[in-house]
Amino acid sequence: MRTTVGIIGAGPAGLLLARLLHNAGIDSVVLESRDRAYVERRQRAGILEQGTADVLRAAGAGERMDREGLRHDGIELRFDRTRHRVDFPGLTGGRSVMVYAQTEVCKDLIALQLREGGPLLFEAEALAVEDAGTDAPRIRFRHEGREDVLECSYVVGCDGFWGVARKAIPAGLTQVFERTYPFGWLGILADVPPSHDELVYARHDRGFALLSMRSPAVSRLYLQVADGTDPGAWDDEEIWDELERRFETDDDWYLQRGPITQKTVTPMRSYVHEPMRHGRLFLAGDAAHIVPPTGAKGLNLAAGDVVTFARALIHRQETGSPELLDAYSRTCLRRVWQAERFSYDMTTLLHRAPGATAFEDRLQLARLERIASSRAAETDLAEAYTGFPFGPAGE
Ligand code: APR
Ligand code: PHB
Repeated sequence: MRTTVGIIGAGPAGLLLARLLHNAGIDSVVLESRDRAYVERRQRAGILEQGTADVLRAAGAGERMDREGLRHDGIELRFDRTRHRVDFPGLTGGRSVMVYAQTEVCKDLIALQLREGGPLLFEAEALAVEDAGTDAPRIRFRHEGREDVLECSYVVGCDGFWGVARKAIPAGLTQVFERTYPFGWLGILADVPPSHDELVYARHDRGFALLSMRSPAVSRLYLQVADGTDPGAWDDEEIWDELERRFETDDDWYLQRGPITQKTVTPMRSYVHEPMRHGRLFLAGDAAHIVPPTGAKGLNLAAGDVVTFARALIHRQETGSPELLDAYSRTCLRRVWQAERFSYDMTTLLHRAPGATAFEDRLQLARLERIASSRAAETDLAEAYTGFPFGPAGE
């Protein structure tokens, strides 16, 4: 088997890349280790920056998103039993975000790829990337019980944090930057209309809580919990009681309860692998970097990476110049580190670390009050939340 671009992984990064390449007339093959149902059900965040929504639209994958997605013009910060709304368009010259679940983005891109695009093989597990440093990289993979080889001109590792692509970059050439956090998120899906029409990020002495949504009828809520918590250890009423406490305000706002249909615990991590390229192997999305979910940047970073790669390869095909491919890692990392900074700031602003001192609690409140009272501080948050533009140099 031979293709121009071998793509490992059919998460949002791999699927969007396949679509962008297809639209540019460049052939690709996508290898995905899981089955289609698993990929379409895996719960992840659901906030698209304006730039990500624009890219999906331009790629011809925005039709259902525009019909069913919810445009959000702000978020609420909740602390000290008070509420503060951050108005995105007013602070950023008109920018907003789209609430449209990652599962739905994946379903839309899978349907398009299977209908119009190149091969997308499910239950095809990449075992290794070979000869990454040469002009003829190869992916060794297993599909339907047989081992096979995909010969490529380029390989893009979109295989997430646990993938194999990253391992093909010699350790002596790489540097890893990492931070883990001593807490995680217990996330629930519930069949109940969201109790607020925008997302609510709450800082509380008992820990962080987030109110989000999947649709006008389905709520998505999170609680900060101790690292390593078993989701089964929390029964449904306990979860609602704890959410209620952390969201409590002095006005008449209340949290509506409903049947919980899913419970999971997500660990929190910041991680960057540099460089994001070795020879003709390129890393994109979670394969190269992880952000803690506070601020919902994971999917948007993945989209930025693959847009950068697709532009660079198209440039190479059209002009013969490898200049943009050579700049890939540098270009992506500039944006990646801005998202790392923002996600870290949001995480440390809103979570209560075990053993946090009274001094640290007061500092968090002072940071929140600064955002609520200074247009400059609030603008900084709004700009980062709605996203850094996808320009060729990340500007
Ligand atoms: N062979 C083939 N596929 C693999 C392999 C392998 N060896 N290892 C992992 N995969 C697949 C996974 O099954 C998964 O479908 O790669 C895909 C990676 O997808 P994601 O983890 O979703 O990563 P990415 O596409 O980079 O998406 C970025 O945004 O919301 C965030 O972290 C969240 O998924 C998220 C991300
Ligand atoms: C989600 O809806 O799952 C979500 C929203 C915002 C975040 C993280 C997750 O910051």
